[in-house]
Amino acid sequence: METFEKHEHDVLVIGAGGAGLRAAIEAKAQGVNVGLVCKSLLGKAHTVMAEGGVAAAMGNVDPQDNWQVHFKDTMAGGKMMNNWRMAQLHAQQAPERVLELEKWGALFDRTPSGTILQRAFGGHTCKRLAHVGDRTGLEIIRTLQERAVEAQVPVYMECTVTHLLRAGDRVCGALAYWRSNGKFVVFTAKSIILATGGVGKSFRITSNSWEYTSDGLGMAYALGAELIDMEFVQFHPTGMVWPPGVKGLLVTEAVRGEGGRLTNNKGERFMERYDPKRMELSTRDQVARAIYTEVKEGRGSEHGGVFLDVTHLDGESVKKKLPSMYHQFKDLADVDITKQPMEVGPTTHYMMGGLRVDAETTATTIPGLFAAGEVAGGMHGGNRLGGNSLSDLLVFGRLAGIHAAEFSRQNKQGITPPDVEIQAATRQMLEPFDRKEGASPYEIHDELQDVMQNLVGIMRIEEDIKTALTKLEGLKQRLKTVRVTGSRIYNPGWHLAYDLRNLLNTSEAIARSALAREESRGAHTRLDHPKLSPEWEKITHVIQKDGDGMNLSQMPKPQMPPELAKLFEESH
Ligand code: FUM
Repeated sequence: METFEKHEHDVLVIGAGGAGLRAAIEAKAQGVNVGLVCKSLLGKAHTVMAEGGVAAAMGNVDPQDNWQVHFKDTMAGGKMMNNWRMAQLHAQQAPERVLELEKWGALFDRTPSGTILQRAFGGHTCKRLAHVGDRTGLEIIRTLQERAVEAQVPVYMECTVTHLLRAGDRVCGALAYWRSNGKFVVFTAKSIILATGGVGKSFRITSNSWEYTSDGLGMAYALGAELIDMEFVQFHPTGMVWPPGVKGLLVTEAVRGEGGRLTNNKGERFMERYDPKRMELSTRDQVARAIYTEVKEGRGSEHGGVFLDVTHLDGESVKKKLPSMYHQFKDLADVDITKQPMEVGPTTHYMMGGLRVDAETTATTIPGLFAAGEVAGGMHGGNRLGGNSLSDLLVFGRLAGIHAAEFSRQNKQGITPPDVEIQAATRQMLEPFDRKEGASPYEIHDELQDVMQNLVGIMRIEEDIKTALTKLEGLKQRLKTVRVTGSRIYNPGWHLAYDLRNLLNTSEAIARSALAREESRGAHTRLDHPKLSPEWEKITHVIQKDGDGMNLSQMPKPQMPPELAKLFEESH
């Protein structure tokens, strides 16, 4: 009989990237008992891959900037698919959140007059990105981490949460295991905040590291939560393409923000043909499609990318403003970016879709369950602007902390997770060890990445997506027979066998939503439906578990109030 290590908190935060840390800090400040669980080591989060800056309309460099301009840029970048209220709250609150970080010790780059320096980024009509060279996410994580440690938030590191537990409709805890020894842990909580990030590991080429396996999306889906806008996956235009071992590694948009030029193998600045006005500072969806097209039509670089060039800029200034990029290319590709162009191509970076949440509170459709950061859908619509993820996680991480704490206070009577739920969850986790033969988790994952990369990637078409869905169903059937050997002591095959459940469900959600949306909008490009359709702008796709199957429905998008809608009329 398995015995369980047990922990009890008012608020349990799952995921310790920027959103999770910010939520934990806030919940603690509200005076409740908080626990923070992370699958990796503290400080190792995809937040650090938002390198170029945090978007906030502070107007330090471009005084004409304000929350309304930021709001408009965000909605336009998202092709008006965004939840307008989230985009509004985000634009209004981002400056305060950045200044708060500064008070907590974040060392931003400075203007000559001593204010926080802001740089240009794609789709932002003002210089808006507060930054720390090209290591902004890292500095934000460092600052938040120190703050959480100072606030004495207990952190459970290298602990993977596998199941959300509930009593009746309400979430009341979680089952997890220690990655080092495979022993189970039961957490009891009055409310839970998911801050588990995105789905990158469903794709072959991604900027995401091993942790990004859709855990929160998958667990909440299994509980009946709603996923929205899952067709919108962001392919960042610039990842490394060479050498093969680092393919997909992010090359920050700050390179273009600082004046980097994209060229093809004919030396043409090809963005002239795709977005002559904004050129390299077009939105990510457009630049990614442009690079894809250049390569596909034979104008790519030797290793299947295009060139990103900063050799026309002052070398010393490049090293100062883009130190990580300088070292990344020197150390990994033996390229001195001050003298030679970089080779870059699109890489899966971010999930715009996610859990349906209430804009004001971040509450999901499951009582007691909140979500913030990349795991939550709606904020970024059809395409996220660079730098808006860092401000998103600060704004909504804080709101999640406030409202999850409030929920825990209003529901003081904690519920112990029912034993039958715990037993069922542990049985499911251990099944792969019991099989004498069965599928390899590595083979399933390998095939999944091919399916998503090749059939549901940057350019989509009905036939491919249908093939993907058939293949995904096959992989799901094989997952039912997955076999793991060895013990529970640090067993990566076992960890992957669990991850696959979530990866396959979210991949199916992406494919189903992509098949249903018969238009091209933002990051979702349908070769067979190349135009943007005004009808589709009004529709959000909702994915929900339906018995053993997956249900896709349509929900009308909430109407923007007239005073905000007017902002868009004024700009025409
Ligand atoms: O390119 C970058 O620095 C990434 C930023 C982001 O994803 O927001």
